[in-house]
Amino acid sequence: MHIVKTVAELRAAVKAWRSTGQRVALVPTMGNLHAGHLALVQEAQKQADRVVVSIFVNPTQFGVGEDFASYPRTEQEDRQKLNAAGADLLFQPTITDVYAPDAKTIVSVSGLSTQYCGASRPGHFDGVATVVCKLFNMVQPDSALFGLKDFQQLTVIRTMVRDLNIPVDIIGVETVRESSGLAMSSRNGYLSAEEKTVAAKLYQALCGARDAILAGQLPYQEIERRALLFLQQAGFQPDYFSVCRRCDLQKAGEDDIELVLLAAAKLGKTRLIDNVCFSR
Ligand code: PAJ
Repeated sequence: MHIVKTVAELRAAVKAWRSTGQRVALVPTMGNLHAGHLALVQEAQKQADRVVVSIFVNPTQFGVGEDFASYPRTEQEDRQKLNAAGADLLFQPTITDVYAPDAKTIVSVSGLSTQYCGASRPGHFDGVATVVCKLFNMVQPDSALFGLKDFQQLTVIRTMVRDLNIPVDIIGVETVRESSGLAMSSRNGYLSAEEKTVAAKLYQALCGARDAILAGQLPYQEIERRALLFLQQAGFQPDYFSVCRRCDLQKAGEDDIELVLLAAAKLGKTRLIDNVCFSR
């Protein structure tokens, strides 16, 4: 696997592939790679001839008092995993390679970015949209792969690509879970063994709510209220639990067919998010 730090080296490698007609897929990550990230690499290999993985812990998507400084950085292990997975190129820029000190432009997907996770993490999705837009311009991939696990992030990126006519196919990949149902996440490493057992109940709450909706139970507000209570009683500090329509993440009405249940909750110091998609 080729490892590059600068945009100039990255562009040279991608240009050489393109000149021979090869298709390029990008998997953007913040590192501390787990089976969820590697599922994106695997899917990317089906979509394209060459797979570029970026590892960049993006400071602009972390709020004041969030875990930017302590976010797990596991460079050696990540490189080994990507090598074993057969990625072609690792792009690992420094902060100064990505952001000019006097940068003045941000990408903001209005509305969507201030709801749900965006409400509790002001500026988070502007940081995500900006860095992903920049990575698209640096790599110029044909396609880019994102996990369904971060469903709001995926929706923000799809909206940005549509609104700005960015010529990149966005591909969503199914959430990889532990056998307990807990969605894999770099932040799961913050959980104690005891918390990890409780953490699996977030997915249970989502599946329970999905089953209740499929059984015809209404109204959705009552389903949300019960799920929030279940999470509270399990030891979480829930942030939100929302029955949404999948296309734009607005609150679902009883006529909506394609749904996604979005949930976020804190367990101790760790913020967990998860979702389930289904059709009614
Ligand atoms: P990160 O949290 O490292 O995740 C990188 C990609 O892996 C995202 O698309 C995320 O949705 C996906 N992913 C994480 N856990 C997953 C799981 N259990 N199953 C499937 N996919 C999973 O998300 C980010 O980084 C950043 O916001 C980024 C997009 C790189 C921008 O900085």
